[in-house]
Amino acid sequence: MSHEGTPDEQAIREAKIRQRLDRISRKIIVMSGKGGVGKSTVTVNLANALVDAGKTVGILDADLHGPNVAKMLGCESGALESEDGQNFSPVKVRDGLYVVSLSFALNSNSDPVIWRGPMKIAVIKQFLGDVEWGNLDYLLIDTPPGTGDEQLTVIQAIPEMTGSIIVTTPQDVAVLDARKSVNFSRKLGVAVLGIIENMSGLICPDCGKEIPIFGKGGGQKMSTEMDTPFLGSIPLEMHLREFEDSGESTLKKSPDSKSTKALIDIANFLDSSVAVSSEKKDLKNTSGCAPSACASCSSNCTSRKES
Ligand SMILES: Nc1ncnc2c1ncn2[C@@H]1O[C@H](COP(=O)(O)OP(=O)(O)OP(=O)(O)O)[C@@H](O)[C@H]1O
Ligand SMILES: [Mg+2]
Repeated sequence: MSHEGTPDEQAIREAKIRQRLDRISRKIIVMSGKGGVGKSTVTVNLANALVDAGKTVGILDADLHGPNVAKMLGCESGALESEDGQNFSPVKVRDGLYVVSLSFALNSNSDPVIWRGPMKIAVIKQFLGDVEWGNLDYLLIDTPPGTGDEQLTVIQAIPEMTGSIIVTTPQDVAVLDARKSVNFSRKLGVAVLGIIENMSGLICPDCGKEIPIFGKGGGQKMSTEMDTPFLGSIPLEMHLREFEDSGESTLKKSPDSKSTKALIDIANFLDSSVAVSSEKKDLKNTSGCAPSACASCSSNCTSRKES
């Protein structure tokens, strides 16, 4: 028997996954080619911004080897509760925000998870089928870097995936890898909702001056070249990292910062645009890029022509 169980067990699981997913309006996978570029940061902050806008959001932390979402959300001590030992409730972060992560099942957050592909596939399917997500407006799925088992399992288990968000930093080595994520998404028939350029200039906490520590504009340039929407640039700000380390919401703690404004803009744009993505098209083909991203963009997309 495989890690996924007998064919009968697999069929029951598939049916359960289907039932759960039918109650979730939009499913978005967050990916990157390179590690450490800000996928988890983008996931938790977009989730918080969407909840602030009145949406109900679930986060599935599909990064099994480095699950960081619970720490960033300040709910590391949470546990996946079950009454029947088969169906689990996600951990409630606050009203409207729920999360499931392997970190809730680990004894220590410094224990490594040493699993081959089949184990990872089985756990991700459990997260989709055995978790009582309930009715959600959004399920945001945070993934590890690259295009491996985790991304493939999520996308194959959710054929009606709304789309992908690709996070990159501006420098060439990150952009090069991000291109692979765009092509991966397209090859698997998942609409690219857009590119986010994170760590786009360091804002000096003393003088407020911007230092292009990883360069600037690489993600935006890539989105033009690959004909995908550009969702926006998020600067590197020290407070954002500090709040994440202490599990506090940077949106709440630093509402006027440039990174907060960028994240809220992106969330609002997504929320007003994702309806089109069920057509399995990149957003650009229908509604153009985020308005805030347009200001400094040199592409010739629909929204630019209209403005
Ligand atoms: N815009 C930003 N400003 C300041 N710090 C940031 C910013 N974006 C991310 N960070 C910090 O950089 C680190 C890496 O970010 P994060 O964990 O979100 O990346 P990731 O792509 O999810 O990494 P991994 O590939 O390991 O999953 C974290 O400590 C996070 O707090
Ligand atoms: Mg991460």
